[in-house]
Amino acid sequence: MAGISRPRGTNDLLPERRWAMEHALRIGLSVSSQYGYRHLETPIFESTELFVRGVGDTTDVVTREMYTFQDRGGRSLTLRPEGTTPVVRAFWESELRQAPLPARLSYWGPMFRYDRPGRGRYRQFTQFGVEALGESDPELDAEVIAVAWRWLEALGLGGTSLQLNSIGDAICRPRFREALLRHFEPHLAHLPELDRDRLRRNPLRILDSKDPEVARLLATAPRTTDFLCEGCLEAFARVQEALSSYEIPFQLNPLLVRGLDYYQRTAFEVWHEDLHGAQNALFGGGRYDGLSELLGYPACPGVGFAAGLERVTMLAPAPPAAPGPLVWALTAQPEGAGAVIRIAEKLRGAGLAVVADAGGRSLKAKMRSAERGGAGLVCIVGAEELRQGLVTVRRLGDGTQASGPADSVVETARALLQSSE
Ligand code: HAM
Repeated sequence: MAGISRPRGTNDLLPERRWAMEHALRIGLSVSSQYGYRHLETPIFESTELFVRGVGDTTDVVTREMYTFQDRGGRSLTLRPEGTTPVVRAFWESELRQAPLPARLSYWGPMFRYDRPGRGRYRQFTQFGVEALGESDPELDAEVIAVAWRWLEALGLGGTSLQLNSIGDAICRPRFREALLRHFEPHLAHLPELDRDRLRRNPLRILDSKDPEVARLLATAPRTTDFLCEGCLEAFARVQEALSSYEIPFQLNPLLVRGLDYYQRTAFEVWHEDLHGAQNALFGGGRYDGLSELLGYPACPGVGFAAGLERVTMLAPAPPAAPGPLVWALTAQPEGAGAVIRIAEKLRGAGLAVVADAGGRSLKAKMRSAERGGAGLVCIVGAEELRQGLVTVRRLGDGTQASGPADSVVETARALLQSSE
């Protein structure tokens, strides 16, 4: 077909996948609300500056992956590549900051990154996430992880591992950065230009490199955890202790860093055994105590996670099928269309889901469609019924049927539904 296809890296969420996503989201909302998180939504686009400052101007996301455009008023806007920075902005621009802290918030929606499309990696994808703003207690880090973990459990998604690290803070990170630079300096000439640039501008970004030579050197590179200051060490120990109280297993991973610049201290990801390489994360998150100031607001600690719903639904067991319409109202009489529409509307008014089939096909073809569509009841308006203002209601399971006035179709349908329970 020579039609116009969808843009590369995007998906049409057909009903089955859309249902799976809705199911995952519904469970996510239910689990997070058990922990006191309230849902909010922010716009799909924001000022470009928000992400440049928040996510970091040396990150891959900002330098290579943003969908940035100028609107008709000459403003630079960006389709959001992630949800944390917008949530922090919304917190400061609303009454949320006056409510008791921490503000526990959840969100979901489409995100956009000009990434190389592949399995589980898209240019438009959907995140569900939570953020807790206004408190620096390490126990809150564990709480956020618990929300993510319990959500996975509720979805029946196994084969996961929680990777945990601390990447230090403004006090200890400079020493780690120095050590990293010293480690790579003798090898600079052999590194790709992109990685040399990373070392020059923000050495920690070298840990995102996909280059095999860098990967080899990383195996012996200094570890973040060897450089933690006392405050970071204590916080990290408390996160681990709290995770043990939640009985959530974790793997310490001193090589784990995150692709966004705003993190301090706790960084974590949930990996799945069927996702490989750099794309193996179902979730990512961590603490970002400096983000608020980067955005020009007063200091405000925060911690959160976000999960890719496409990845989660690709790996979670399929949910029970979406409930389909229960009743089909049919006629093969050209002049019966009005009666079918009125019957269907009466039933819908009584809360039932009804497919009205008043088209020109034969009754037999329509009955077949109703059966394939999973109908429980069919309401048939044949020539005789039409003449007398009646409708025949048939229970498909056992063929039991009853006729009655079209005006009383709700009662006839209810009686048949109840006698089958
Ligand atoms: P992130 O690690 O960049 O973190 O993204 C979180 C999750 O979004 C990933 O683990 C993955 O499941 C999904 N994801 C990311 N990029 C793609 C893509 N191109 N295609 C499909 N799925 C993708 C953040 O975005 C942070 N805001 C998380 C956070 C919340 N940190 C603190 N609070």
